[in-house]
Amino acid sequence: MPALSVFGAQWGDEGKGKLIDLLAREADVVVRYQGGPNAGHTVVVGHEKYVLHLIPSGILNPATVNLIGNGVAVDPMKLLEEIDGLRARGVRVDGGNLRLSALAHVIFEHHRVIDGLSERWRGEGRIGTTGRGIGPCYADKAARVGLRVCDLLEPDLCRSRLRAALAEKNALIERVHGEKPLELDAQLDRYVAIGERLRPFVADAGAEARAAHRAKKRILFEGAQGAMLDIDAGTYPFVTSSNTGANGIAAGACFPPRWVDRVVGIAKAYTTRVGEGPFPTELSDATGERIRKQGNEYGSTTGRPRRCGWFDAVAVRYALDLSGADGWIVTNLDVLTGFPEVSAAVRYRIGSGEVRDWPAQLPSIDAARPVYQSHPGWTEDLTGVRRYEDLPAAARSYVEFLEREVGAPILMISVGPERDQVIQRGRIQPT
Ligand code: IMP
Repeated sequence: MPALSVFGAQWGDEGKGKLIDLLAREADVVVRYQGGPNAGHTVVVGHEKYVLHLIPSGILNPATVNLIGNGVAVDPMKLLEEIDGLRARGVRVDGGNLRLSALAHVIFEHHRVIDGLSERWRGEGRIGTTGRGIGPCYADKAARVGLRVCDLLEPDLCRSRLRAALAEKNALIERVHGEKPLELDAQLDRYVAIGERLRPFVADAGAEARAAHRAKKRILFEGAQGAMLDIDAGTYPFVTSSNTGANGIAAGACFPPRWVDRVVGIAKAYTTRVGEGPFPTELSDATGERIRKQGNEYGSTTGRPRRCGWFDAVAVRYALDLSGADGWIVTNLDVLTGFPEVSAAVRYRIGSGEVRDWPAQLPSIDAARPVYQSHPGWTEDLTGVRRYEDLPAAARSYVEFLEREVGAPILMISVGPERDQVIQRGRIQPT
């Protein structure tokens, strides 16, 4: 029975939140398996706008169980804020529909502080992180000095391990970065108290996901960030600290890779990126500015203006290939209305040669110059269109061109922020 993976196929912010929310209506279980509060999924339901950072998008559907997997970096203060915020708006959130892996690593205040200080230290070489403590938390996980959610539930253990961690982190904060250390007792008391509040949600999320699969439940794996920010396959070091595609599911949710039946990527009809790092099709001109304005391209987590440019078929082809995607969903097609021409990179020129495949190493990506193919634009508003044949001919021709260049079927087209602003073209759900 079906397990569906949906992930971002660019540098994040592909509009996953809305689509995952839409697909979650057909899911019994929605699972986050990587990333942390660096993600910001905006979902619009009626006149209400929700920005979810840690809680899976299925939370807005009362019958869906939402799992936060072991691969997620959990900032418990942010999680509790999010729970309180949703409850204040009448959304049900309890230990029955939100399950938090006991094995997930915890983001502490010192991780957030060190995230900011490390960026300052790197100066020109900064990554442009979201400042949410993601990198330092995953670094501690890999160094085997992190604390997990289960550790917060044992006050004595939590105090002794946090005391040991803070001794080192405070030395770093004070002696390397010249800043004020964190106050030990206040931190200990705070996190022990937080552990108590989290207790009702804590579970063996991996076991629950596997049991759900055995019970033939419909499971949706919700990717955060995008494939080009993947720590292994992305534009390292300008990446996030987790495996962002379907490749992250096995480790991040303790879910067997053979059990994922269908894999679908999501990409915008153009490209955006926040933070530093390579972006071959970036437009630092009036066209880029126009995309930013028409697409309201400002980060939902940090509010930063996003870098904008044309669609990059080389990058999306690579992203879908990495996860073995069955097809993809194109979002924000409506944003391109009014451009006299719309372009997409189909190859890169590097030196005197041309490549169709993503060059995995950074110096080559920096040297890559996109080879564009232009298409006539359209002037019609697309936001009310619900059937493919009702799209203007030029928009259809652009969609079919993207499909050809990327080499995978476009299963759905999104033409606005509301859940119903979609055009169905193919099968997304597994059978
Ligand atoms: P970090 O994940 O905060 O460490 O940031 C590393 C890189 O990933 C930076 O370029 C961020 O801007 C980017 N990033 C992290 N989360 C998101 C996201 O949800 N959308 C887009 N970019 C993200």
